[in-house]
Order: sequence, then structure tokens, then C-alpha cells
Amino acid sequence: MSTTSYFALVPAAGGGSRMGASLPKQYLSLAGRPLIRHALATLCAVALIERVYVVLSPDDAHWPEDEFSDLAAKLRVLRCGGATRAESVANGLRAMSGVVAVDDWVLVHDAARACLSVDHVESLIRAVGNDAVGGILAVPVADTLKREAWGRIAATVPREDLWQAQTPQMFRHRMLSTALAAAPSVTDEAGAVESLGLKPKLVAADATNLKVTYPLDLQLAEWILANRK
Ligand code: C5P
Repeated sequence: MSTTSYFALVPAAGGGSRMGASLPKQYLSLAGRPLIRHALATLCAVALIERVYVVLSPDDAHWPEDEFSDLAAKLRVLRCGGATRAESVANGLRAMSGVVAVDDWVLVHDAARACLSVDHVESLIRAVGNDAVGGILAVPVADTLKREAWGRIAATVPREDLWQAQTPQMFRHRMLSTALAAAPSVTDEAGAVESLGLKPKLVAADATNLKVTYPLDLQLAEWILANRK
């Protein structure tokens, strides 16, 4: 394993409109705590991670300071969210640059993936810690995929070699900053790094690392957290 340090960056400046709630989804209640608390607590519990940065919208009025006092040693709040997820990440990387060295690893994780476990994070770090490019957690696609046109099936997309990207996505600070500057409209960090002509590593995770997007996902996440050993 390399001697570089590990940091986490959690973009949490989105509104979560697909949830249909009045509160941004990261602040909805999940297992009795704000949803965002779960992933932040997990990342803070990973011994190798030095500091966990969370990126909020500059006008976020919901951040529940009191919920995080026990994580204060590692957690830092950055109020520099942007109009897109990629912009929030790029702004966060810039704000971290005084503390994080150019070759340090940054693990970017969606606040909405509340069921992330310490095991998930450690398996990513183990698999990618010596990699020249970086990598992401992902799961192989299990379902048959259909391309839609006007409500009907236009084509069946072969699922061999297809994976669903998750987070954390782990890249070195300088490479990720450069990639996001060159490809600002990507929907994940790996997409930006791929646009540099590089091939990030896929690290198999599992479906429990789901992204809470729709109301039903909240119930699934609650079940996963309650039943985890
Ligand atoms: O909306 P979606 O679930 O795809 O968002 C993924 C993550 O990106 C969430 O944690 C969300 O808060 C964050 N995000 C952000 N800034 C935005 C939009 C989304 O930090 N402008």
C-alpha cells in the first residue's frame, strides 16, 4: 500500500427532487437520524481516512450541527456546493487543497448512499490503494436491459460487461481536479477520469450500497441498516 493519505469528500448540495419531499433528501429521517449522518459516520469510522469533508449548498439552512458533535475530530463542513454534483465535487476539491497533497487519495461518496459500510470502504482502499489510476465500487448488472422509445422497447442491450457504478469513487486529488475541469458535465468522477483516456478499476460491491432516490428506497435502507450485523 502506498504512503499517501486518504480523505473523503461527500457532495451533499442537491435538492433530491425525485424524493418528492419538502426537505432535501439528505435531511430526511432514516433509522432515527438524518439520512446524511449514516454515510458520514461510516466514513469517519474508517481508520485510514484522515478527514471527511461534506459539501453543502451555500444557502443550506437545514444542516443539523448538533447531530455531528461526536464526529467533530474528523468532519469538516464546506459550504461551497455548486449547480451540479460535478461542480460541488470540483469546488470541494479546491477548498481541500490546502490540507490535501496532490497525490493523496480522495474518496468521493454520495450522501444518499446511506448504507455504506466500513467493509465496503476498506475493500475499495485495499483494491485501489496501489493503483496508478484509481477506481470505484460497482455491481455487475443482473437484469436484462431494454432501450425505450415512445413507451415501447426499441432494443435489448446486452448486459455482459455492464456494471452499475456506485460510490465511493477513489482518485488522487490532482488527477480528479484536472479531470473535472476538463469534463464538467459528467455524472460521476470515473466519467471525468475516463475522459482523460484512463481506465479506472472496478471493485465489486453489493446491492446494500444503494442510493436513496425514491421514497421506497428509504424503507429498503432502513431494513438494511436494521439487519446488518
Ligand atoms: O441527485 P443525486 O442522488 O444523483 O445526487 C448525488 C449526490 O450529489 C447527492 O449526495 C447530492 O446531494 C449531491 N449533489 C451535490 N450538488 C448538486 C447536486 C447533487 O452535491 N448540485
